[in-house]
Amino acid sequence: MRITLRLTLSLIVAVVLVAFLSTYFDVKDQKQGMRDELEKRAEILAESLNETATPLIQRQATAELERFVEHFGQRERLAGVAIYLNPGHLLTMTPGLDLSLVTPPAAIRVAMEKRQPTGGFFRQGDSTLYAYGLPLEYDGKPVGVLALFHNADYIDAQTTSLWWHSFISVLIQVLFIALVTLLIIRWSVLSPIHRTARWMKEMRTRGMAARPMLPEPDLFEPLTEEVAHFARSLKAARAAAEKEARLRVQAESLWTAERLRVHVRSKLRQSRLFVVSNRQPYMHVHRGKTVETLVPASGLVTALEPILRATDGTWIAHGSGDADRETADTHSRLRVPPDDPHYTLRRVWLAKEQEEGYYFGFANEGLWPLCHIAHTRPVFRSTDWAHYQAVNQKFADAALEEMQGIDQPTLLVQDYHFALLPRLVKKERPDARVAIFWHIPWPNPEAFGICPWQRELLDGLLGADLVGFHILSHCQNFLGTVDRTLESRIEEERLAVNRQDHLTEVRPFPISVALEEPAAATALVSSPYIERAALLRELGVTAKFMGVGVDRVDYTKGIVERFHGVERFLERWPNYRGQFTLVQIGAPSRTHIKRYHDLLAEVEAEADRINWRFQTSEWRPIVFLNRHHSHEEIDPYYRAADLCMVTSLHDGMNLVAKEFVAARDDLQGALVLSRFTGASHELRDALLVNPYDIEQLAESIRYALEMDSEERSERMQRMRRVVREHNIYRWAGNLITELLEIRPEKEKGKEVASPAVVELATRRGAE
Ligand code: G6P
Repeated sequence: MRITLRLTLSLIVAVVLVAFLSTYFDVKDQKQGMRDELEKRAEILAESLNETATPLIQRQATAELERFVEHFGQRERLAGVAIYLNPGHLLTMTPGLDLSLVTPPAAIRVAMEKRQPTGGFFRQGDSTLYAYGLPLEYDGKPVGVLALFHNADYIDAQTTSLWWHSFISVLIQVLFIALVTLLIIRWSVLSPIHRTARWMKEMRTRGMAARPMLPEPDLFEPLTEEVAHFARSLKAARAAAEKEARLRVQAESLWTAERLRVHVRSKLRQSRLFVVSNRQPYMHVHRGKTVETLVPASGLVTALEPILRATDGTWIAHGSGDADRETADTHSRLRVPPDDPHYTLRRVWLAKEQEEGYYFGFANEGLWPLCHIAHTRPVFRSTDWAHYQAVNQKFADAALEEMQGIDQPTLLVQDYHFALLPRLVKKERPDARVAIFWHIPWPNPEAFGICPWQRELLDGLLGADLVGFHILSHCQNFLGTVDRTLESRIEEERLAVNRQDHLTEVRPFPISVALEEPAAATALVSSPYIERAALLRELGVTAKFMGVGVDRVDYTKGIVERFHGVERFLERWPNYRGQFTLVQIGAPSRTHIKRYHDLLAEVEAEADRINWRFQTSEWRPIVFLNRHHSHEEIDPYYRAADLCMVTSLHDGMNLVAKEFVAARDDLQGALVLSRFTGASHELRDALLVNPYDIEQLAESIRYALEMDSEERSERMQRMRRVVREHNIYRWAGNLITELLEIRPEKEKGKEVASPAVVELATRRGAE
């Protein structure tokens, strides 16, 4: 039987049963009420007749008694009155009363015998009568019984009518409830289920439905979550299979998340992977009464998560969210991703002053401007340095604690926040393989030399087996700095440093993004192109051409220079006034630091000044969107823009340039790219510019807009090939392969010479 029918029938039975019982008791009460009322009426009437009847009986005034019973026998519902002298002797009764009443009915007999008023219902023929007997006394002696007979048929009639009324109203109620139930089931249950089924079928047969048609969360929350999850997994599995198939056909060897997973698992064997970074991959924050999980928009998570998932590794990071403590266990650990746990996140807690000194101070006011040649003076405070050392030790302790009991663990340290950590870990765990990837540039030795603690920083870094940078020139600058600062032996050709019997290899690993080719099926049902005009309209601007810039508001990004480039472009080619708008997405960053705070004000003021100079009622040259935007929010701008401007004054890599290329599967859009970015070493088909040269910036905007479509498409095609082949998975795969090929020098407790050391020893012997 169908569930709806079963549900409706059960409801009908339940409602009928409840209604029947309630009607039964209701009717019973009412019937009893009517009977009580009749008894009362009879009693009152009998009492009032008593005074008249008794003297008449005493006087044996038969004729008057007959008139009396005749007169009172005509009242409403009173069938008649009778007077009995004793059980066998009827004195008189109302004419018309049934002759069988010559013999008194039971209630009257009881009244006579017990000498007390008694009433009772009895059947006579087709009717129900109520007899009420009142013993009559004169001078204390019984003289007879006054009997009143009421017709009680009306009680039965009213009871039956009550039953009918209740039946009809119950019937209407049942029908109404059943109808409402059916409608609710149809609208709220069946229809969302059918919609979900239709959507899943579309996904199964056509690849991907245009838009998820999932029921509202609430009643269906667990189902919705699981179905959405299932759909994502199916989509990912399909994409991976499609990609694998494509790769087989093309006999290419592109790196994919799946390939990275398999590769790392086979390489890592028994070892376990640990990652240390300042930013965590999942952060918990309070939003009103709920706790929200945030995933920072970071290439690092994309790259490292497949490896950690495949190997059930541990990611150690600063717990900076205000709900981080309550979502971790007593050991500050939690399993992530929260909806599909595959690896462990270990959070490290920092006091406010520690974060202030280590992160804002030494890392971002000291090392950041030291490594970026962007003409902001680094600030070195000994208090910040003390915090930096303490926090590095704290993270090292956490890493060592997590590594306990694991033989030959593999540690990947991320970035300039942890220069001291490789040495701190290696000192305690010589069997560990340790790499650090420096995500920002490494300046030339003279520039780095201004850091008062350069020796300590270099010593910390050289604790690692592998130090990675984005590009070769950063590796060379690093080797040059080591050479100038520390007692060591540099192997230029091998890109390695020998120091105190420890070999540190230095390698370039250009970081990247994941470039997903659109699946054919997806392309059919949903267009990736968002109308440029519509985007601009939302921003209150009408323009024919659109440029886009996406940056953290950082002085290394050359945002003000970019605005000056736009200003100069409009000066030199006034025909573009009213036609070209640059949408600058600028995520606020490190605003706690004065330089960043001031920069934000400067960027806003420059945008206002230039807008004021050129704007019309419907157009302005610069739209500055100063808030964090998710990947999903940025993507439409990448796809709709005529050009993307990356004008960093100095940048390790710059992933915005690669993200823009990855988004342009239509092979349109031009990239204006600073030659001072790591990305410019790979994306040779971008329009390479010197961001300090405002004329060149203006010229590159004009060139990008006027470039013929074929050239634009060829450039984009070549840049996409580079990004596709040198993707984020390849970065992670190469980094970890290189690290795992290094044999640990010392295993716990016993000395083992690494090939590097053996080689060195052999060479020394030969010298
Ligand atoms: C640079 C660093 C990254 C860091 C990013 C954001 O690109 O190299 O490691 O994640 O800036 O900086 P934040 O200070 O917000 O983590």
